[in-house]
This record gives sequence, structure tokens and C-alpha cells, in this order.
Amino acid sequence: MCGIVGYAGDKPAVPVLLRALKDLEYRGYDSAGIAVLDPGEAGALSVTKKQGKIANLEAAIAADASAATTGIGHTRWATHGKPSDQNAHPHLSCGGEVVVIHNGIVENYAELRSALVARGHQFRSETDTETIAHLMEERVKAGESLLDALRGSAGLLAGSQAIVAMSPDEAGVMVAARLGNAGGVVIGYGEGEMVLASDLAAVLPVTQRVAFLADGQFARIDKLGASFVNVAGEALQVPVKRIPIDPVSALKGDYQHFMLKEIMEQPEALSDTIWSLATLEPAELYLNDLGAAAERLAGVQRVVLIGMGTSLHAAMIGRHYFEQFAGVPAETDNGSEFRYRDPVLGPETLVVSVSQSGETVDVLEAMAIAGTKGALQVTICNTEGAQTARVAEGAVYTRAGLERGVASTKCFTAAVVALYALALKLGQAKGRLSADEVRRRLAELAKVPDAVARVLADAKRYQRLANDYATTQHLLFLGRALAYPAALEGALKMKEISYIHAEGYAAGEMKHGPIALIDPSFPTIAIATKHALRSKMISNVEQVQARGGKVLAIVTEGDDELARLADGVVTIPEVSELLEPIVASIPLQLLAYYVAVHRGCDVDQPRNLAKTVTVE
Ligand code: F6R
Repeated sequence: MCGIVGYAGDKPAVPVLLRALKDLEYRGYDSAGIAVLDPGEAGALSVTKKQGKIANLEAAIAADASAATTGIGHTRWATHGKPSDQNAHPHLSCGGEVVVIHNGIVENYAELRSALVARGHQFRSETDTETIAHLMEERVKAGESLLDALRGSAGLLAGSQAIVAMSPDEAGVMVAARLGNAGGVVIGYGEGEMVLASDLAAVLPVTQRVAFLADGQFARIDKLGASFVNVAGEALQVPVKRIPIDPVSALKGDYQHFMLKEIMEQPEALSDTIWSLATLEPAELYLNDLGAAAERLAGVQRVVLIGMGTSLHAAMIGRHYFEQFAGVPAETDNGSEFRYRDPVLGPETLVVSVSQSGETVDVLEAMAIAGTKGALQVTICNTEGAQTARVAEGAVYTRAGLERGVASTKCFTAAVVALYALALKLGQAKGRLSADEVRRRLAELAKVPDAVARVLADAKRYQRLANDYATTQHLLFLGRALAYPAALEGALKMKEISYIHAEGYAAGEMKHGPIALIDPSFPTIAIATKHALRSKMISNVEQVQARGGKVLAIVTEGDDELARLADGVVTIPEVSELLEPIVASIPLQLLAYYVAVHRGCDVDQPRNLAKTVTVE
């Protein structure tokens, strides 16, 4: 959830940390802080931290730029302790022996804190994180190295954590740990310098050679490299990989917001995803990252798809693909619910986790449960080497490039494409799809990037349309069948970035309650495209209008009947039934974006949200 960064090298650390923190600000922006250590002067540790965005931290540092060449930094999404300067990371031990940044929750922090206070420790913040600094302090004072102090303290912490620490006693050194699924620690190998961060976005501008800490791994890092141990202190080999992501794609370019850039990038993101997974001549699927999972597909009897938020909506669309192509029962669940049930799964169940980051804690915990039951696991992920990909037997990567806007757009549509490809592969493995059928389905998929591009070419229209919705208090999004998850996603986009109360509903369910809300001040957006049970949707549109509600309908080009009936229409090009929700989602993304801009909202960093949710 929070962003963590670190640097050890010969350059001044402060600019490197600030730039990296900006790359991670989407993860949380309640406060930011850095600690730097000057190797020249023993004990020269300085900490600066400020409530609010990184700009506040930058302003605080400007007058006091340090030449220190080792440092750590943090951008916070508050869990324990309100957003404030005091609760901002990094956190110091009593005498500044240890300084810590942290992502995750120390679930037993209250108990640890009382014990530490009873032993004479003085706390300066309300955070759970500070307990780690005090626990490590005791060990460092007893003569342990910083790495051993982190290992020893880690055993006392309940919950999932990613922790990075420094000490003035070990100039030029950072230590890091990953315990559970509270987010990643990516260690980047530069030339005579090392960086670390909670995700790749902040490492790639320095180097594409990276190592990922896995659960239970600890690292000691200085400017010359890193060494790794497990909790018992035994040396580990952690592979260093070259990541083929172009850091340029992380830049905002001429766009006002990352979200708009990412919406506009969808034709390319979809095309890259499709052609990394398939060819048309010959019509073949190349899901090479499925690895050993490919061999087990023929035995799959059931599919369970797991995700959170937007990724869950992608999974809900994907469910239809598995049922149609593979003829197996498919269901979806929210990772945070799944993990607390006792789900019935077995080796014949394929669990498909959908997570653009591959680091969402509820998805990872759900995967852990699926693992204990012997289910076959495949993840749909946009981040190569992410934790879901390490846990699953196989992966299907989307090629959407880095997504920086907190509201997911291109990763959503790319995930739907990846699910389509995986479902085709399963249908093939189970002998349900002929070569001709696969060819036909791939040819239909190949048309999608172009259809999306045609909707985007008319983006300005949504800017004008946004005027009509910018002052509304409530919005209802309706859809049926495959358009139902698209309606849920339209409502989620609208509420998260514009703060307008929006509900997504299965249109057939509307009469069972929500229709009571309809009045002239409560507009409805209805996905009534050609294949989305259009005739039934026409009835729903009429029912809303009969109660004085106004309806904007998303329709297929040429649908004059709905154009006459609805109060407003936007059209999308015709694509095959199964792929319609991808194209129908584009107008909803654009509308949410322009409504949010019209309302003056912080589109890329909406309040209370974070891009990667690594806490419960
Ligand atoms: C909403 C949004 C979130 C994420 C959710 C899961 O726009 O982005 O709902 O979809 O937090 O994130 P991932 O896909 O990284 O697991």
C-alpha cells in the first residue's frame, strides 16, 4: 500500500529518493519522509517527514539538502495513526540507533508497544511501525548486526510486512525483509549503486536488473550489491533478472493525467497483449508463461476466478469465457471473502487470480488457501515477476505497460483479453474447440483494438457530456449478462475518481429495489448494446423513464430505435458478443474521467485510495 524506496551509492541520495518516491506516490499520499545517512560522519542520520503529498516533503528538504549517499524514503497510506508529520515514516528508535520504513500492518503492535514501553522505550508516533524500530534497537544495542536485528525482530511480528531499515552504526548499509504478502521489495542493481523499492516503477529508471524478495527473505544491501538470508540466517541465492519494461512508458507525456494517457493507450495495450499471446496466421495461442500448468489444463473440471475491485470485474467477464469455451462451471469471488470461507476446491479446480499489480494482499491470501487445497493456479498479471506469478503454477501476462493512475483502465481491458486467451486455451486443452473455432474467436479478438481506437477518437464528446453529469449526486449503471460487470466497473470508475455516488446493477435486479431511487435527479446509464440482451434493456430504459428518470444509453452504431428512445446515446462499433464489454467500458472510463476533471478532483490520486492494496 505504502511506497518504500532506498538508495546506496556514491551520488547524493536525496534527489534519487525524491524521484523514486514520486514514482510511488500513487501507492499512498497521506505523508512522505526520508532518512539519509552520511557515511563520512558517524551518526550523521537525518530524518525529514511531512504530512501530505511529496511536494510538502520536497519543500521541507529544499533548504537543507544533504550530501549523504545512503537513504530510505516512504510515502504513506495511513492504517494505524492518522496522517500527520509525527506518524509519517521513517520512524526512529529511542536514541536514533535504527530507522525504519514499513509497508503492512504489525497486527500485534498494541501488545508489543505496551511491552516496549514497560521496558522504558519512548514512542513518538501512534503507528504500528515504530514498534519495529524499538525492537531492533534492543538487538543492535546488544551487539547484533542490523540484519540479525531485523531477523530477530521479524519473528515477533504478527501479520504481513515489508520492512527496510538503516543504522548509523552501519554506514552505507540498508537491510530489508519481506514477511508475507504486504507488498514487494524489488532490489535494483545499478553500476556501483543499488536501489530498492516496493515496486518496479521506482527501480526501472535506475536499472532493469532486479531481484525480488520472496516471503521470508532478508537482504543486506550496500552500494556494491546485496546478500540474502532466510529467517534462520542461512545464505540464499536470489536470482537477478533483466526486466524488459521501457521506463519511458511511465511518463505522462502531454496528457494532463496518467489516467487519460492510460485510457488512450488501450488500443496499443490490447494489441500488445493479444499478439504476445496469439498469432492469427496460423491461428495459435502461445501462452508460454503457463509453464507446467499447461499440462494440467485438460484435467480441469471447474474454474474459480478471484480478484478485487476492477480486477474482480474483469474476472466476472472472464467467467463467461470459461463457461462458453471450456464448458466447465466457472464462478468468481472477491479475494477478501474467499480467504475467510472454507472454499471447496481440489486438484481439478483451476483458480485464476486476476491482479494487475500481482501484489494485492487479499488475492495473495486467497491463492495461499487455494494452494493448500491443491488447486491448479494461473494468474493474470501485468507485472512480470510479481508475487501472484511466483505463487501460481503459471501466468498469463498482460502487456499494458506500467499503469500509474490509481483508477485502473488499460490493465482492466487487457486482463479481459488475457482471460479470453486463457479460456480459449482451456477449451482447446479439453478438446472442446476446433481449430476453426479458435481461428474465428481470435479473428474476433483481433478487431477489438481498432474498435476501442474508434471510440477513443471521439473522446472530446465525453468532455462535453461530462457537463450534464458533473453536478449530479447519484448515478445508476445498468447492464445485463456480460455488460453487468461492465456496469459495475463504470460505477466504480465514477465513484472512485469523481466522488459521485454511483451504483452498478444487473438490470433485471433493478425492479427488486433500486427502482425506488429513480426520480428526475437520479440519472441512469444503461449498456444496451446489440448483444447485451438489448430488447430486455429497452424495457429497463422504459421503466426508468416511466418514473421520471433520464437515461443515457450505450448502444451499437446504427441502433436508431434506442437513439430515439433514450434521452441521450453514445455509440460503440459492433464487435462480437463476448468482447462487447471491453468496448462498452471505454465510454464509461472517458465519462468518469471528464466528470472528475470537471469537478476539479485529483484524478490520478483520488482521496483515500492507493494503487496497490497490500493491507487488509
Ligand atoms: C480501481 C482499481 C482497484 C484495483 C484493485 C485490485 O480502479 O484499480 O479496484 O483493481 O485494487 O488491484 P490489482 O489488480 O493490482 O490486484
